[in-house]
Amino acid sequence: MNNPLLDSPNRVKLGVMAFNCSHGSTVTNVDEAWAMNWDDNMALARMADAAGMEALLPVGRWKGYGGQSNFNHRTYETLTWAAAIAAVTSYSTIFATVHAPVTHPVAAAKMAATVDHVAGGRFALNLVAGWFQDEFDMFGVQLPPHEERYDYAAEWLTLVKRLWQETAEFDFDGKYFQGKGLWSEPKPLQSPRPPIMNAGSSVTGHAFSAQHADMNFAMLRQLDEASDRAQIAQLKKLAVDLGRTSQCWIHVYVVCRETETEARDYLHRYVVEQGDDVAVNNMIEIFGSQSATLSDEVLEAFKFHFKAGFGGYPLVGTAEQIVAGIERLSNMGVDGLLISWVDYLGECQQWIDDVLPLMEQAGLREPHKGDS
Ligand SMILES: Cc1cc2nc3c(=O)[nH]c(=O)nc-3n(C[C@H](O)[C@H](O)[C@H](O)COP(=O)(O)O)c2cc1C
Repeated sequence: MNNPLLDSPNRVKLGVMAFNCSHGSTVTNVDEAWAMNWDDNMALARMADAAGMEALLPVGRWKGYGGQSNFNHRTYETLTWAAAIAAVTSYSTIFATVHAPVTHPVAAAKMAATVDHVAGGRFALNLVAGWFQDEFDMFGVQLPPHEERYDYAAEWLTLVKRLWQETAEFDFDGKYFQGKGLWSEPKPLQSPRPPIMNAGSSVTGHAFSAQHADMNFAMLRQLDEASDRAQIAQLKKLAVDLGRTSQCWIHVYVVCRETETEARDYLHRYVVEQGDDVAVNNMIEIFGSQSATLSDEVLEAFKFHFKAGFGGYPLVGTAEQIVAGIERLSNMGVDGLLISWVDYLGECQQWIDDVLPLMEQAGLREPHKGDS
């Protein structure tokens, strides 16, 4: 089966993220922020797909963060988004980001298998154990205490995998789920199952990810290169100790311009001059109190990165500087980058024109062969 997430020969895999959400990943009030509509989603997906990017990842979000931008208040639901994006692309792996607490595993297994068929075996699951209680309040769902969320997610995933793999009906009597005569057809095209990503960031989240996921979607602390390198090595070691391998993917926010000054000026404009401080403060308050990803001090220092690209890692400067940055990340152990921009359509095209050829020259990627 041909899933570029696992099969791509490229040293650094690429993807585009969060374009199913208004404002994408940038918490800013600039006029050109991503308005988010279907035509633009389709155009961007096709552009990234044709350029040989390995992944298209939607953010799972049910409610915005307030502020003038009301960051992420308009979002396409990710499994239905994935089915539609799968139908208009032919190469990239299409993710859905699924919140275990609000999606029943029997429904999730079948929806995922459906998308995998539409995609010809290019589906992947980004599983979220949950952290944003405000949005779960809409479902009347109370999140379990932090540590227990991952027990719940593990049982959820056990059930989904059995439904994907077992041909005979089975009864299930777990702590969180009980059912009789469980069964799901068709199976996903990918065997034994589609790839799984998880962005758990706490000690428990990392352990879950090492045990159950093929990729950890990491938020680097960005204190210094040595500690980021150690963070990635530790994530991979956790999987190796369990006899597994795990890729490390990170989110990068990109501002690429002809000169470094232009890039830095634009970053300053959308983050410092026109960043949405109310929305980012709400986000930090919720993320800080409901997840165990970053300590309070790191969170405060992270405000800039949250406004610039939802806590991602900066790649800012000329195309040459950006490729040098990617090479550093690759040497630190990063396997894949999920990119966000302010102006997805314009800046993705610029990436394809200016950055991709330099990545190929640097041996970080091979030219994409297309549909041939
Ligand atoms: C790069 C990245 C992307 C994430 N994407 C989503 C998302 O789309 N939806 C969501 O609800 N949570 C998302 N999360 C949250 C994580 O899945 C996780 O719940 C959070 O980091 C808390 O980790 P913890 O449960 O280990 O404390 C993301 C986290 C990171 C680091």
